[in-house]
Amino acid sequence: MSGEGAAPHEPAAPAVVEVRGLVTRFGRQTVHDGLDLSIGRGELVALIGGSGSGKSVLLREILGLQRPTAGMVRVLGTDMWQAGAEELAAVRRRFGMMFQEGALFSSLDVAGNVATPLLEHADVPPALLARLVNLRLTLAGLGAEVGAKMPAQLSGGMKKRAALARALALEPEVLFLDEPTSGLDPITARAFDELIAFLNRDLGLTVLMVTHDLDTLLSIARRIVVLGGGRVLADGSADEVMAVQDPWIQSYFAARHTVPQGGRRRDPPEGPNPDAARMPPARTDGA
Ligand SMILES: Nc1ncnc2c1ncn2[C@@H]1O[C@H](COP(=O)(O)OP(=O)(O)OP(=O)(O)O)[C@@H](O)[C@H]1O
Ligand SMILES: [Mg+2]
Repeated sequence: MSGEGAAPHEPAAPAVVEVRGLVTRFGRQTVHDGLDLSIGRGELVALIGGSGSGKSVLLREILGLQRPTAGMVRVLGTDMWQAGAEELAAVRRRFGMMFQEGALFSSLDVAGNVATPLLEHADVPPALLARLVNLRLTLAGLGAEVGAKMPAQLSGGMKKRAALARALALEPEVLFLDEPTSGLDPITARAFDELIAFLNRDLGLTVLMVTHDLDTLLSIARRIVVLGGGRVLADGSADEVMAVQDPWIQSYFAARHTVPQGGRRRDPPEGPNPDAARMPPARTDGA
């Protein structure tokens, strides 16, 4: 746990994601100002912070999609901004990502979307491709019949699951998710949380997810990293982070005590439901 000026959280396991001295500037705007972050294998880390605090940009910089102004980003030992094309392609096969906007290819059906990384990065025989796609759909909680649907024919929850199936296409070791439950109704969102927790706990995936969803944080994230002022404001368990005396953190977590107009309680669940925790994530209703 780190408050202001404290040492950043250092995972015991070798770091899967390592960010050091990251600086990001857009013109005169400084988004990241010497940010340090380290994530160990098997962790499930939630990244929170105010709108515009630089969460999505940080994710893109970690993924090697957007070049930071300065600093170092290493994923699975590869320096994302120094490595050659071959090394980058190799490390990209080992992580999956799901973007804030879902970003399915609208011209391809769901099976085509899930197959894309397999076709791009792996030499999969056509006969095996359909089976692999179906396995990924099942893992993401979708029935095989959903493969034939076009993205426009899917509900919001199904779109998220299809995007997750695509992120899982290459059996990644690390999963990056940007707002995986945004726009979902609470029941669908909680089912999605269970699925992410299952991937982390039972399949051993390391997960870094950006989220605004307080229920997600309080139910599945074991470590919460708060971005603010271009740096890590707080880093630790929910209880540790909630104890940090920062106005944004205090007002953010205060929301859990209120019941919004829609009637959705923001309280965390009483405790984990052991039956739910053991349940496989596969659902065919597209929730
Ligand atoms: N390509 C870009 N060019 C210029 N400014 C950018 C660019 N990308 C992001 N920004 C700015 O950087 C800041 C951080 O953006 P980012 O998308 O990371 O925010 P965020 O923390 O993900 O917010 P939200 O919670 O709303 O998704 C914002 O002020 C945004 O306008
Ligand atoms: Mg964002």
